[in-house]
Amino acid sequence: MAMNEFEIKKLMCDIGRRVYDRGMVAANDGNFSVKLNDNEFLCTPTGVSKGFMTPEYICKVDAKGNVIQANGKFRPSSEIKMHMRVYEKRPDVGAVVHAHPSYATSFAIAGIPLTQPIMPEAVIALGCVPIAKYGTPSTMEIPDAVEEYLPYFDQVLLESHGALTWGPDLLNAYYKMESLEFYAELLYKSRQLGGPKEFTPDQVERLYEIRRQMGIPGKHPANLCPNAKAGKPSCHSCGGSCTCGGEGKADAELVSSITKKVMEQLGL
Ligand code: 13P
Repeated sequence: MAMNEFEIKKLMCDIGRRVYDRGMVAANDGNFSVKLNDNEFLCTPTGVSKGFMTPEYICKVDAKGNVIQANGKFRPSSEIKMHMRVYEKRPDVGAVVHAHPSYATSFAIAGIPLTQPIMPEAVIALGCVPIAKYGTPSTMEIPDAVEEYLPYFDQVLLESHGALTWGPDLLNAYYKMESLEFYAELLYKSRQLGGPKEFTPDQVERLYEIRRQMGIPGKHPANLCPNAKAGKPSCHSCGGSCTCGGEGKADAELVSSITKKVMEQLGL
């Protein structure tokens, strides 16, 4: 059942506590937003700890990020433009999460994208995690840097800054942040142990096939990577920087027909 606006605000506070308690942000860092409809979006306020919010903290903005509603001293996140760019370019997205989880942010600071295929869940849920080039927070530089990845991925590292995830709803976008950080942590630790044992291209392709069969929504190299289109293993062979493909109509049709078949088989 669809949540009403107050329930969504309460969920935003719950997610804020989780993000804070898991150490994915320090102090007042991080922000997230939820799309209510084409011209109304809820977002966290700027300059407060997202671990201690109550529903009246949450602000409402229009599609340009202008304030529709903000209680007392609360004002929308200073990063609202970054969120609005995701909604503008990805009409399928219902929520955006920004955090600074320590392992993922360390990779973002070192300038290393997460591209090594090392565990099934990360390959299926995320594929690769590229790095959007550094931009000064709160300026248009970050939305502009993120934009090139929006047609192909549901998550990016933000160079020397943190991570950004998006999805159909807030839990989905938040879980992507958890998955991304866990992937980064495992990658970091396995490198300390002498280097991860990577999946072979064939093993990667079999995991991508599982994702296709599951009909998981969102953008992922399993369906979009130009390497995959060329019959080559994707996307882990292109260093996480591939943006040269286009989102083919054929891909969308393929995903939709597989989703339909899975739903039919499940009797939905
Ligand atoms: P806001 O409190 O303005 O959302 O900013 C936090 C942050 O992490 C900026 O990158």
